[in-house]
Amino acid sequence: MSAPAPNPVVAPDHVLALLDRLHKESLTQENALPSTYLASGGFDDLMRDKFIALDQDKCQFVYQLARATGARNIVEIGTSFGVSTIYLALAVGSNLDRLGGEGKVVATEKEHTKAEKARQYWQEAGNDLVTRHIDLREGDLLETLTKDIPQIDLILLDIWAPVALPALKLLEPKLRSGGVVILDNSISSATRYKELLEHLRSPKNGYTNLTLPYSKGLEMSVKL
Ligand SMILES: C[S@@+](CC[C@H](N)C(=O)[O-])C[C@H]1O[C@@H](n2cnc3c(N)ncnc32)[C@H](O)[C@@H]1O
Repeated sequence: MSAPAPNPVVAPDHVLALLDRLHKESLTQENALPSTYLASGGFDDLMRDKFIALDQDKCQFVYQLARATGARNIVEIGTSFGVSTIYLALAVGSNLDRLGGEGKVVATEKEHTKAEKARQYWQEAGNDLVTRHIDLREGDLLETLTKDIPQIDLILLDIWAPVALPALKLLEPKLRSGGVVILDNSISSATRYKELLEHLRSPKNGYTNLTLPYSKGLEMSVKL
């Protein structure tokens, strides 16, 4: 029998169990969505009670990346119920313990009910481990991210397509040299992210790009 796949996430059992539970709930919801949901009207209404969490293997990759790069300041574009945020907060907490200094995960969610639920899950994970490393900005991120953004090590773009490029452009002046941008669904949603992918891949914008072969694709771009 082969060994289970390794999990890089260093956290107490109750946090690992919480993450497993939330990913399962998210997948159950996604599997019940109509196949046409991306094109359906009332998209925000449909998504208001849905996790749409970043896949577990992608979350583990982003966690590992944040640990490897010693990321202290991360901006999460699209928080929903805060599943990927838990991974980012754990990574930032470990990096601050190891390297010292200050840092935060700036999280963003426009739906108040989703933000409330995210806070509950973070509390369940633990204030010391997770909540205290998160600065949740509630409201439209094109307004909430206009001030008090530190120099950024890592940006996670996990958001509806129309707002992805404007969000990145807003944050780019704060993205450090060597900073990383991760974009979910860069293969399955390549058409919807056309302008964003063109921006990331245009030589004049100074990124190196790699499409990681996760399900539906995960773009990793490094600002040089
Ligand atoms: C794909 S979900 C994020 C999932 C999350 N990263 C996770 O892994 O649990 C995208 C979220 O972005 C939020 N959102 C969409 N447009 C937004 C905007 N303009 N400002 C802030 N949040 C927005 C949606 O309400 C939704 O909850």
